[in-house]
Amino acid sequence: MTALVELRDVSVDYAGHGGSVSAVQNVSLTLGENETFGLVGESGCGKTTLSMALMGLLPSSARVTGQLLFRGQDLLAMSEAERRQQRGDELSMVFQDPATSLDPTFGIGYQVAETVRAHRRVSRGESKARALALLREVGIPAAESRYADPPHRLSGGMRQRVVIAAALANDPSLLLADEPTTALDVTIQAQVLDLLAELQRKHGTTILLIAHDLGVVAQICDRVGVMYAGQLVEVAPVVELFAAPRHPYTRALLEALPSRGRRGRSLRVIGGQVPDLSDPPSGCRFADRCPHRMDVCATVPPLVDSDSRRRIACWLDPATRATAGLPPLPAAPTPDAPIAVGPS
Ligand SMILES: Nc1ncnc2c1ncn2[C@@H]1O[C@H](COP(=O)(O)OP(=O)(O)OP(=O)(O)O)[C@@H](O)[C@H]1O
Ligand code: SF4
Ligand SMILES: [Mg+2]
Repeated sequence: MTALVELRDVSVDYAGHGGSVSAVQNVSLTLGENETFGLVGESGCGKTTLSMALMGLLPSSARVTGQLLFRGQDLLAMSEAERRQQRGDELSMVFQDPATSLDPTFGIGYQVAETVRAHRRVSRGESKARALALLREVGIPAAESRYADPPHRLSGGMRQRVVIAAALANDPSLLLADEPTTALDVTIQAQVLDLLAELQRKHGTTILLIAHDLGVVAQICDRVGVMYAGQLVEVAPVVELFAAPRHPYTRALLEALPSRGRRGRSLRVIGGQVPDLSDPPSGCRFADRCPHRMDVCATVPPLVDSDSRRRIACWLDPATRATAGLPPLPAAPTPDAPIAVGPS
């Protein structure tokens, strides 16, 4: 796998009046060229913060440490002007709610054409032709006659297609899609995910798909990273993660799916809550909810290669234990053992 993005020990803290919030802690992750990678976790786990760090769009209260490499170049070492240029050339983002991405007062085609013009020095006629081509590519029916329609004349799913068309205007190498289907009903969600998968295949774009729901990422992702309270706890190919989840939090997420593969459900059925990130636990952040907690869990488990395809951060795992010179547990819970999640 050729790396497009490499995050090394990335942490993000937000400064606030009452102290700082540790939103992302020591995340290391590689996204390959042409890969569709899913990032999942409950609300407040730091998914958006991590993607905004990649985009260089965090508020000034955020402090980012570590290394964010894009094609080997450290984004944190770039000037603001260099980052803006790089963002315009290489990155695009699709958010949850198309209503906030589109201007209600302008026609959809005009808005896509303006995005084209923001990236390329082209005439109005050329930008219109390109906008029409993009609208057709994302499946807007009768694109020419809908060109001047304002967003409210379109359904939510069609509006999200328009946002995706605009996001493709710069032919990005990396498309960050932050909960792009959460606001849509289930059938439309599947269609928008299919569209993203089709565009990925056609253009070879790397996609970072953020979702609450493992069912959503399973639709189109090659690999998945599970985040919990700012920490990346497991990374694995989707198929292997579903077949044998290893981290207790991943297993709890899978158990929270009403049926494997079903989309669009909140994961809040997992007992307990994500810890307060303004005063996070000093060890494993899942410890309060974990039925397997041990003394060693008071120390943060590092994310290590469990085998050639999987990474895991849990003191149950022999590879994590080996980093601290600990022997494998005599009766480590098997991946298929039932999961009991701690009290609310
Ligand atoms: N601008 C900010 N200032 C202070 N804290 C913030 C800010 N933005 C996010 N946070 C905090 O950082 C943590 C991570 O938030 P983030 O939005 O990245 O999570 P998320 O996984 O994207 O959640 P969701 O699924 O709800 O979108 C949360 O505790 C959140 O309250
Ligand atoms: S066993 Fe320990 S390290 Fe693993 S998830 Fe539970 S509390 Fe965290
Ligand atoms: Mg978010």
